[in-house]
Amino acid sequence: MTLRVGVLVSGRGSNLQAILDACQSGSLDAEVRLVLSNRAQAAALERARSAGVPTQVLDHREYPDREAFDGEMIQVLRAAGVEWVVLAGFMRLLTPRFVEAFSDRIINVHPSLLPAFPGVRAQAQALEYGVRVTGCTVHFVDHGTDTGPIIDQRAISVSPGESLESLEGRLLQQEHDLLVDVLRRISRGEVTLEAATEEGRRKVRFS
Ligand code: GRF
Repeated sequence: MTLRVGVLVSGRGSNLQAILDACQSGSLDAEVRLVLSNRAQAAALERARSAGVPTQVLDHREYPDREAFDGEMIQVLRAAGVEWVVLAGFMRLLTPRFVEAFSDRIINVHPSLLPAFPGVRAQAQALEYGVRVTGCTVHFVDHGTDTGPIIDQRAISVSPGESLESLEGRLLQQEHDLLVDVLRRISRGEVTLEAATEEGRRKVRFS
């Protein structure tokens, strides 16, 4: 079944591009119904326009609080027929209201092997810590920051003395591949979430 996706962005949009390319080549059975940005200058918007995909800008600074901003995002995404939400470099925290509106249907791509290095500057954090292996993660979004159930990860070795720029670039390539691969599995109905354990943790089941 064709996955009806909304992609939330704030910047460059290389992960968005990977999704658009996969849709266009037919390697991913998904339709990007809307690209939503909180920044009018985001390069991601131009990528969407070039692919003929509808875009919308909602500037969070024009809303009194997160609740109001997220409420508007929910409306706009629903009006566009979005069923699954992909966070692809979206630099805003989501309210519980938003997470519940698309319950178990929001995924995020993060440039570290979670639960290591959540939050911003994950690649720099990894370098500062001196890890020899890092990677990227695609996970379901829950109420925490980068805490949701992990769907899949890719690991890479960190070369001694590697620059931040080099690591970011190598990680991005992995992110693109991983994100499209996870969306493909979701579109095939192969990814489901188990009920919470007694400790409140939820795991992903693959079929
Ligand atoms: C990626 O590194 C992603 O993991 C993180 O933000 C960055 C977005 O890059 N959440 P892009 O806008 O997709 O190029």
